[in-house]
Amino acid sequence: MDPDASDEMTDHLVDFFDQIASAYDDWAGGQHGRVAARLVELAAPKRGEHALDVGTGTGLVAHLVATKVMPGTVIGIDLSDRMLSIAREKKSKNIQFVGMAAERLVFRPETFDLVTMGEALAYLSDPTDALAEAHRVLRPGGRLAVSCQRRSLSTRAQDLFFQGLAPLARRHYLSLPRYSSERARLGEPDVLPQLLGAAGFDVTRLTEMVTGGRTQNAREWTDLMAGAGPLPYTLIRSLGPRYRTELEAEVESAMASLGDPDDAFRYHHSYVIAVARRR
Ligand SMILES: C[S@@+](CC[C@H](N)C(=O)[O-])C[C@H]1O[C@@H](n2cnc3c(N)ncnc32)[C@H](O)[C@@H]1O
Repeated sequence: MDPDASDEMTDHLVDFFDQIASAYDDWAGGQHGRVAARLVELAAPKRGEHALDVGTGTGLVAHLVATKVMPGTVIGIDLSDRMLSIAREKKSKNIQFVGMAAERLVFRPETFDLVTMGEALAYLSDPTDALAEAHRVLRPGGRLAVSCQRRSLSTRAQDLFFQGLAPLARRHYLSLPRYSSERARLGEPDVLPQLLGAAGFDVTRLTEMVTGGRTQNAREWTDLMAGAGPLPYTLIRSLGPRYRTELEAEVESAMASLGDPDDAFRYHHSYVIAVARRR
């Protein structure tokens, strides 16, 4: 991605996270909190450790780590002011939240025992640079714990819906910045360990987390999918009531086209979680 396109993408993402910040913790019945809890369980923070939470958002991971490492400390970094202000509302004495880019950490080398990245890697402007920075600030033998959405386990209903978004944007003359399709593969169990290995980490644990459900109708479906990423969010929220009704009618008929009523409106939330040790 050229630097201008990358800046545009970062602005678009930060704007998305600013806008959804107040609904983030409740999205899909608290899905992000469940992933954060599993990530922290696998990262196994220990009393007295110093941890960095990259792309901390509303601090779901950071606050859980803070209770485990007390009297150790946690620093959470993010670029979205609104996400950070929600993170700061939840009080923990041993946490600090700071506006900072994952790709340019201000910390000295070998400062932390643990770096966590909950559902952040695929959103960063440069995941490779961010992993190099995590490596630099971890002490040798320190742990990195990463969770990443695994998109290949989406349902047929999700695949159909997401395939329809680009044509929908074109029809409404909306041109939105997007990462390349390679990003969608970051959370695959054969891709993430390779990326971590190349960044100087040895993966010690790799596991998956899959949950799912069904919505009742197209309105619930579009509401849920709007929180799934900047593209569906911007598209769905920018449609006026008439086009929104049209979109819901299209979703209804797309779901009917799946043939099996059991497949209609079915979704998966799938993640890969890796814990790795810094070489
Ligand atoms: C899906 S949220 C994850 C929040 C939290 N870690 C969790 O597990 O729920 C991704 C976060 O990454 C942040 N982010 C995106 N690009 C970033 C960057 N380059 N540096 C730091 N944070 C970034 C976003 O603002 C957003 O809050």
